[in-house]
Amino acid sequence: MTEHHPLRRVVITAGPTHEPIDAVRYLANRSSGRLGIALAAEAERRAWDVTLLLGPVELSPNYTQVRIKRFTTAADLQALLMTEAKTCDVLIMAAAVADFRPPSTSQGTKIRRSDGTINLVLESTPDLLAEFAASRRPGQLIIGFALESRDLLEVSAREKLARKGVDGIVANPLETMGADTIEASLIWRDAPAEQTPGPISKDAFASWLLDLVEKRQDSKEAHLPSTG
Ligand code: CTP
Repeated sequence: MTEHHPLRRVVITAGPTHEPIDAVRYLANRSSGRLGIALAAEAERRAWDVTLLLGPVELSPNYTQVRIKRFTTAADLQALLMTEAKTCDVLIMAAAVADFRPPSTSQGTKIRRSDGTINLVLESTPDLLAEFAASRRPGQLIIGFALESRDLLEVSAREKLARKGVDGIVANPLETMGADTIEASLIWRDAPAEQTPGPISKDAFASWLLDLVEKRQDSKEAHLPSTG
């Protein structure tokens, strides 16, 4: 019997989205993409088949094996998830997707200077993670991220886990965005939560998280009826 490893294909999303306000301006956030980039490097090191969906960041990682597809807006990422992630075994959604965006009607021209205040109208973006999870294939493992203030960390992460229908949520405090280290919990839908041993580097975090993903896939595999 040939050995089938369940972790063949992983899709990782990373970085912010930029949502155009007009022809020259956009709404963004502080995500550097470094965490997702570190995750892709670690997955490559483990010889997984890795696709990194990467937002508008300065960094250009140099991998040898990782397939990189770039996105700018939440809508771009939505389209990429449809084409690149449908058949993956694991989706790790580390991208900081905008929750609101200007409606597309304002994007052709440049808003002119005027005295006084102006109002920016925003519409909500689709929840890409919830959407993906709602049409997932059997056996796909889906992990999201949640940035929260420390006092609400666990409660909000559990709420997101249920609302988005994913298998796990990595919860980290707001300070993580753009920082060098990360202190996180991984809240599983159906298993006890895990915690990093204090603040650790993003590379160490990547290894910590992928170990847990591997452990989970192995235990699921062990519980599957034998096909051999
Ligand atoms: N996410 C997504 N689509 C969005 C917004 C977020 O797929 N439009 C994903 C993020 O990539 C992340 C997870 O959902 O994996 C949680 O993101 P977060 O911004 O913390 O949660 P929200 O759904 O935006 O909820 P809230 O605004 O209440 O924090």
